[in-house]
Amino acid sequence: MTRNDTSTRGGNAVEVRGLVKQFGGPTGTRALDGVDLDVREGTVLGVLGPNGAGKTTLVRILSTLIRPDAGTARVAGFDVLTQPRQLRRAIGLTGQYASVDEKLSGFENLYMIGRLLDLSRKESRSRAAELLERFSLTEAAKRPSGQYSGGMRRRLDLAASMIGRPAVLYLDEPTTGLDPRTRNEVWEEVQRMVGAGSTVLLTTQYMEEAEQLAQELTVIDRGRVIAGGRVAELKAKVGGRTLQVRPADRAELPRMAGALAQADLDGVAGATVDAAEGVVNVPIVSDAQLTAVVRLLGERGFAIAGISTHLPSLDEVFLAITGQKTSTPADEKSDELQEVAA
Ligand SMILES: Nc1ncnc2c1ncn2[C@@H]1O[C@H](COP(=O)(O)OP(=O)(O)O)[C@@H](O)[C@H]1O
Ligand SMILES: [Mg+2]
Repeated sequence: MTRNDTSTRGGNAVEVRGLVKQFGGPTGTRALDGVDLDVREGTVLGVLGPNGAGKTTLVRILSTLIRPDAGTARVAGFDVLTQPRQLRRAIGLTGQYASVDEKLSGFENLYMIGRLLDLSRKESRSRAAELLERFSLTEAAKRPSGQYSGGMRRRLDLAASMIGRPAVLYLDEPTTGLDPRTRNEVWEEVQRMVGAGSTVLLTTQYMEEAEQLAQELTVIDRGRVIAGGRVAELKAKVGGRTLQVRPADRAELPRMAGALAQADLDGVAGATVDAAEGVVNVPIVSDAQLTAVVRLLGERGFAIAGISTHLPSLDEVFLAITGQKTSTPADEKSDELQEVAA
């Protein structure tokens, strides 16, 4: 594979081409199966994918912790295979599982990392104090980090990844398992970092998180890129909300979906029956469509037991983008989706 030494001058902080990683020999798991992606300098790329998609494997390769079987990757102009030492100095890594030393205080954790990165004692001290301040941890600085709340731990982990002023930050599922309030705190910190000029590669399982933080998205599943582009473009593909209508009598499901298909409502297409849930799903993009659907069903005399709307889930994003359901085991009910509209 050819190496393009001028590539990063074009404005890409990360360039990945044809990345392959196989675990456990020829019959094992192909965690990455030819991944291409770019992260433009000063932006956030969201890498969206379900559990097992290959996100952490990608981050580990880009951190030089494991070697790819094929393909190339450059970060901040450095090649993962031939310039690992320089590359490591250019990156910050926040793991999915916060890895601070619980016995050490917040300050000691950050100071120690500074020393490990070859900063002087003085610089390690001032950098630790500065980041503790920035992440609202100054008051807790002297307490053992084992006593911190989940949100404080995550913020300490973020601070730790920034000690060496990395040009490129990897955030691997930074908010998985956090409550909504703490998740918002982390999002604010990430936005601040990007505002200060960092380039971020963010992996996530949440569409909402990608929407909040990323300008561009790469969707991966089973080690392959299945979609990519600007967040707004992907959302437009996925459509807006889904309206779920629950008939009082389950036996009415097909007739209800059929009525919607025949009515040819403006912009409403592709009503599907979810027999397991006992609902008809109708993709809608406006309140006017919602009203039109409900009115039509009323006029046709359907007895409705419930109506709800919801934003697309990750599963629905996959469904919309690929026409296939994701590999998530919790997704069994999609087997029963039936296309009703033409
Ligand atoms: N060290 C490893 N040995 C064997 N299989 C692995 C290893 N690391 C990851 N895998 C497998 O590779 C696939 C991708 O894993 P991972 O990159 O952790 O996905 P994600 O972070 O998107 O959840 C999964 O099927 C996982 O079980
Ligand atoms: Mg992972």
